[in-house]
Amino acid sequence: MEVLKRIITFGTFDVFHIGHVNILERAKELGAYLVVGVSSDALNISKKGRPPIYNQDDRMKIVESLHCVDEVFLEESLELKGQYIRQYDADILVMGNDWEGKFDCFSNICKVQYFSRTEGISTSKIIKQVALDFS
Ligand code: CTP
Repeated sequence: MEVLKRIITFGTFDVFHIGHVNILERAKELGAYLVVGVSSDALNISKKGRPPIYNQDDRMKIVESLHCVDEVFLEESLELKGQYIRQYDADILVMGNDWEGKFDCFSNICKVQYFSRTEGISTSKIIKQVALDFS
């Protein structure tokens, strides 16, 4: 009998866009249950030096509303990735290829798979474009 795979992925998912939908849908195709760690506002400030446009509650609600997503949780620290993978009993970790190689250290606890990013779009690019267009 085939074991139904559990998939985990992480991200900020701020100003939700088509690149986010694409990676989440592709991740779900790998298994039966998709868990998404959504970065907290504090983590985003420490990573990117600015708060996200949408707060963590709204970002979690948006991601959770997608039919391909089964569960979301708040990712509070980058250092806890291994713990989250174990806690959610993930068989496969999916990341965009902007992270290529960076998570290979978890290949002893789950399969690690990188997907190519959707070209030409990112949250930072949208924010810059909107700021330019309305300045
Ligand atoms: N992602 C993607 N294609 C894009 C943008 C993002 O596949 N064009 C993926 C990322 O690789 C990551 C997930 O979506 O696995 C969440 O990425 P996130 O950092 O929240 O979005 P970005 O648009 O990359 O945000 P930023 O521009 O602020 O870095």
